[in-house]
Amino acid sequence: MKKFRLTFYVFIFIILHLVSWGSSFSIFDVSTEDFNTCIESNSINDTTISQLILTPTNSSFESVWQARINNLKFIQPTTLDHPSSPLQPTKPKFKPFSSAPRNSDVNVTSRTAWVQTGALLGELYYAISQKTNTLYFPAGICPTVGIGGYLSGGGYGNLVRKYGLGADHALDIRFVDVNGNILDRKSMGEDLFWALRGGGGGSFGIILAWKVGLVPVPEIVTVFRKNVTLEQNGTDIFYKYQYVAPRIDRDLTMRVQILSMLIENTTTKTIRMSFDGLYLGRMDTLLSLLDKRFPELNLTSASCEEVTMVQSSLVLGEPQYTSSTPTAMLANRTGIVRPWNSKQKSDYVRTPIPKSGLRKIWKKMFENDMTEMLMMYTFGGKMEEYADTALPYPHRAGVLYQVLKDVGFRDQTSDTTPVSLKRIEWLRSLEKLLEPYVSKNPREAYLNYNDLDLGVESDTYAEASVWGERYWKRANFKRLIRIKARVDPDNFFRHPQSIPIFSTSVSDM
Ligand SMILES: Cc1cc2nc3c(=O)[nH]c(=O)nc-3n(C[C@H](O)[C@H](O)[C@H](O)COP(=O)(O)OP(=O)(O)OC[C@H]3O[C@@H](n4cnc5c(N)ncnc54)[C@H](O)[C@@H]3O)c2cc1C
Ligand SMILES: *[C@@H]1O[C@H](CO)[C@@H](O)[C@H](O)[C@H]1NC(C)=O
Ligand SMILES: *[C@@H]1O[C@H](CO)[C@@H](O)[C@H](O)[C@H]1NC(C)=O
Ligand SMILES: *[C@@H]1O[C@H](CO)[C@@H](O)[C@H](O)[C@H]1NC(C)=O
Ligand SMILES: *[C@@H]1O[C@H](CO)[C@@H](O)[C@H](O)[C@H]1NC(C)=O
Ligand SMILES: *[C@@H]1O[C@H](CO)[C@@H](O)[C@H](O)[C@H]1NC(C)=O
Ligand SMILES: *[C@@H]1O[C@H](CO)[C@@H](O)[C@H](O)[C@H]1NC(C)=O
Ligand SMILES: *[C@@H]1O[C@H](CO)[C@@H](O)[C@H](O)[C@H]1NC(C)=O
Ligand SMILES: *[C@@H]1O[C@H](CO)[C@@H](O)[C@H](O)[C@H]1NC(C)=O
Repeated sequence: MKKFRLTFYVFIFIILHLVSWGSSFSIFDVSTEDFNTCIESNSINDTTISQLILTPTNSSFESVWQARINNLKFIQPTTLDHPSSPLQPTKPKFKPFSSAPRNSDVNVTSRTAWVQTGALLGELYYAISQKTNTLYFPAGICPTVGIGGYLSGGGYGNLVRKYGLGADHALDIRFVDVNGNILDRKSMGEDLFWALRGGGGGSFGIILAWKVGLVPVPEIVTVFRKNVTLEQNGTDIFYKYQYVAPRIDRDLTMRVQILSMLIENTTTKTIRMSFDGLYLGRMDTLLSLLDKRFPELNLTSASCEEVTMVQSSLVLGEPQYTSSTPTAMLANRTGIVRPWNSKQKSDYVRTPIPKSGLRKIWKKMFENDMTEMLMMYTFGGKMEEYADTALPYPHRAGVLYQVLKDVGFRDQTSDTTPVSLKRIEWLRSLEKLLEPYVSKNPREAYLNYNDLDLGVESDTYAEASVWGERYWKRANFKRLIRIKARVDPDNFFRHPQSIPIFSTSVSDM
């Protein structure tokens, strides 16, 4: 019976990924003829279900990852870091369905939306924009990120300084536990509801849908992008950014993308920084604000554009999109042009990096082959108001900015070619170089930039704390472990960095 229960929810998981749902969220309420046939023929039994299940032990695991990637909802199949949930749907044995469970049901009156976990952020943004220009959901930058992983890891984005994390605006969850029970916030209780908003979905069960609160935004907002190189005093300007951006008016969120490149027509490298921002207001107010607080950036109207909030998601979301791109592209999966193939690592900066440190970083970047990227993402503002324990995501008050470090493999056939491996080695050496300049005890890392280099051992708390406290800090990690022991005691939902179950009792839990 137990085995049946386990396989049953695996089946649900697969169905979730493969079929289109009605809005009632009933598992069997699907319109597709093939699926009804499958259900009605009473063919849900262990034999048929096992054919639909894939675990990391299946030899075709990698090809299934590939299938997921081709779906473009998922990140890369690097050998290092699938933040893999234990269950990977295989290619359907029955005919593929035309769409995934990804409806976003937006209610402007109640300022809420029910979003199915298969939805991409871009699909939610587009669904909101079809009803209003003055409400939005404070979620991530890239429209191709899935709501399921995004919210269950916390989720920051262009409204983080004004409204905090995406998970701060989760109001309810529809969830399947390890016994196949469908739960909501009330029936699961506040402990598990807390865990699912930053503890990672892959440790506890299957999330079917999120109810989220929408936040007010002005009808017109301002976006800007401005390049600055080292020759244009980039080091001084970035140094100043660290003091200004995390403390400025919370209607303004800035990020700085940092890359190395060749100075035009030479073989000499330089650093290019792209200062990008979203301001919840008009251009003239933004320009006078920056003129007063950050004149070194020398931002002028030439770098700014007034747009709607949904257009800002285009401009800041994908380099190939502009404000003239039809907003429907946010919800167009065939329009998604590039699978993300890279190795990522994160850090949090709590003390401004001195100019000498910045110069060391640039020098380090010159050692790589121009496939690296640093993304400095400003926090502060609303994030200062949350205790580290409010949600499992603990990187809150005192963080000036988040650092995402990335090397890409798009020109390589895989992430294990000699060239790719060299880039990964370089990324690890950058990680070492940054140590004096980033958060300590623990050195914090973002769960959603899942990094198996941090460690995977989890037989004891001492082992697991090496990586777990970096994602969640001690108090949250221990609370997650207690919740895990209660809701999934057999550790069915697991991956290399899922919340552990200990075989020996842990007295100090
Ligand atoms: C191009 C790009 C841009 C990004 N930008 C941002 C950003 O702006 N802000 C930010 O916060 N993060 C960002 N991220 C990180 C992103 O949040 C994570 O990659 C996240 O895990 C993606 O979730 P997914 O649902 O798309 O992926 P998936 O691979 O489907 O999910 C990742 C993990 O989430 C869990 N999960 C997913 N769905 C469910 C479910 N239904 N039930 C239970 N558990 C589930 C599982 O553990 C799963 O392994 C970005 C990533 C990329 C690749
Ligand atoms: C399971 O279902 C398949 C397909 O309907 C059927 O052929 C098989 O006999 C069933 N097995 C059991 C044990 O019921
Ligand atoms: C995956 O492996 C399990 C266990 O070895 C097996 O029962 C199942 O049929 C395999 N699934 C596929 C799709 O190969
Ligand atoms: C939207 O929310 C309002 C207020 O809660 C409610 O009265 C209304 O029925 C909802 N509309 C839909 C279509 O669900
Ligand atoms: C910044 O520089 C890059 C590379 O030279 C260029 O492609 C991009 O258009 C520039 N962006 C702006 C806003 O000028
Ligand atoms: C760089 O800074 C110096 C000293 O503050 C200043 O004189 C010079 O004009 C700046 N150069 C640029 C390109 O902004
Ligand atoms: C670079 O070379 C091209 C082609 O010779 C030339 O048109 C361009 O002006 C050069 N740019 C600079 C900055 O010298
Ligand atoms: C500021 O930017 C304007 C327009 O981009 C440019 O003309 C001017 O030279 C810049 N000033 C400085 C000090 O860099
Ligand atoms: C989706 O994007 C593709 C590729 O860019 C394009 O051909 C197609 O017309 C788009 N579909 C819609 C409905 O916009």
